[in-house]
Amino acid sequence: METPIFDELRKLKDKNPISFHTPGHKGKNTLISWEDFIPQIDITEIPGMDNLHDPKGIIKESQALAAKTFGAKETIYSINGTTGGIYIALGGITNPGDKILIQRDSHKSIYNGAILNRLDIEYIHSNYNKSYGIFTGVDPYIIEEKLKKDQKIKIVILKYPNYYGICSNIKRIAKIVHKYGRILLVDEAHGSHFAFSDQLPTPALKAGADIVVQSIHKTLPSFTQTSMIHVGSNRVDIEKIKTMSSLYQTTSPSYLFMTSLEIARGYMEGEGRLRLKKNIELIRELTNQIDKISRAYVFTGDERDKTIFDKDITKILFKIDGISGPKLSKALRENYNIYLEMEDYQYCLALASLMNDERDFRILMEAIKEIAKIIVYEKTDSIPMDIPTPEIVLPIYKAFYSNKKRLDLKEAIGKTSASFITPYPPGVPLICPGEIITEELVEYIGFLIDKSIEIVGFIGYNKEKIEVVD
Ligand SMILES: Cc1ncc(COP(=O)(O)O)c(C=O)c1O
Repeated sequence: METPIFDELRKLKDKNPISFHTPGHKGKNTLISWEDFIPQIDITEIPGMDNLHDPKGIIKESQALAAKTFGAKETIYSINGTTGGIYIALGGITNPGDKILIQRDSHKSIYNGAILNRLDIEYIHSNYNKSYGIFTGVDPYIIEEKLKKDQKIKIVILKYPNYYGICSNIKRIAKIVHKYGRILLVDEAHGSHFAFSDQLPTPALKAGADIVVQSIHKTLPSFTQTSMIHVGSNRVDIEKIKTMSSLYQTTSPSYLFMTSLEIARGYMEGEGRLRLKKNIELIRELTNQIDKISRAYVFTGDERDKTIFDKDITKILFKIDGISGPKLSKALRENYNIYLEMEDYQYCLALASLMNDERDFRILMEAIKEIAKIIVYEKTDSIPMDIPTPEIVLPIYKAFYSNKKRLDLKEAIGKTSASFITPYPPGVPLICPGEIITEELVEYIGFLIDKSIEIVGFIGYNKEKIEVVD
């Protein structure tokens, strides 16, 4: 019997790695032992249960409890993650042809949501902090200028926090968005835990967001794929959101997933909150200790960068001088059994949650100390990221659904892209469907390829072709 997925998972389980990545449960139980209930509670809409698509009983009650805890007017469970939640939220607050204002470094669910809901896109750019080589926050003033000039923009979408835990001045942004009569949708995929500590950045709902989508699974103890859509104001038509929820979600919503959301919320109302408080203290201590290690450094902010309004301490962004991010991450994984969330050319990201324990932090600190001592200095590459955004000549959805042809990259100069071309890291698209492919971009892509940077979006046998509008 061949079971390749299970075989690999079993090997990983036996290794018992230290998790500094999602999901937030870190392989641990909270209020219940899942092994006592699985697979028996994996059921469907049998009598006595409820229906996520028209909740009248236990699901309705459970969502209402979540709304109360997170401070929403109403909450809907998304068992297709924040990706599905974003599609639903976007569909619920727009009509096809509407324009949305998004960050260029938005998650791809925003781009895909714009295609599915047939929305025009206008960009704002997160600040690229050259001193540290990372994208930071958004200047509220830029949003105001865009809204003043362009009456067609209906929705502003903010990523809060970003992957590194950096938070823009959301209260100010919410005020501006409302001053101009628009709606603020917040992608708070990485910030569900903010609601449970005043040591963390202000939760988006509290800061005035109209609608917020959170991956509960990323930073709180629930199963992967479990998210919540919170409606925060009367600017959002909740009935339309429910219609969109039915359109985008499976007709067989998993009770395991919904229960997992409920258990996570219940846990956070009691013991979880205390555990988070303790871990925030441990992370502070860890940050101080890493900073004392020669060559090692943790990013906690940059006073000169006014787009950084707050920083989520649970996202530990660190580096060791003279060791590239991928090399450091590999050393931690192979020699210390520590798995991280992400690495880029310079940095590594350890995503901690309340479910990490004291031992995890201690082992991470000791590993960094040892690596800094034994791995010799090597000059590391720094890659410029602030490449100009190409001109948009066609709405993203029109280019995406157009007749296409496949060309070599050089032949595509001057043509309209029908593809996303995205280097990882940092996962910010260089070209989106509907944008003109310029010579400068093609040269930059060549430069990235020379540096062996993974670029997603090419097709063909050798991944050498790009799709353009025919
Ligand atoms: C900023 C951001 N938004 C949305 C998503 C999608 O979240 P999910 O994995 O819950 O679908 C992610 C996932 O990594 C993300 O980083």
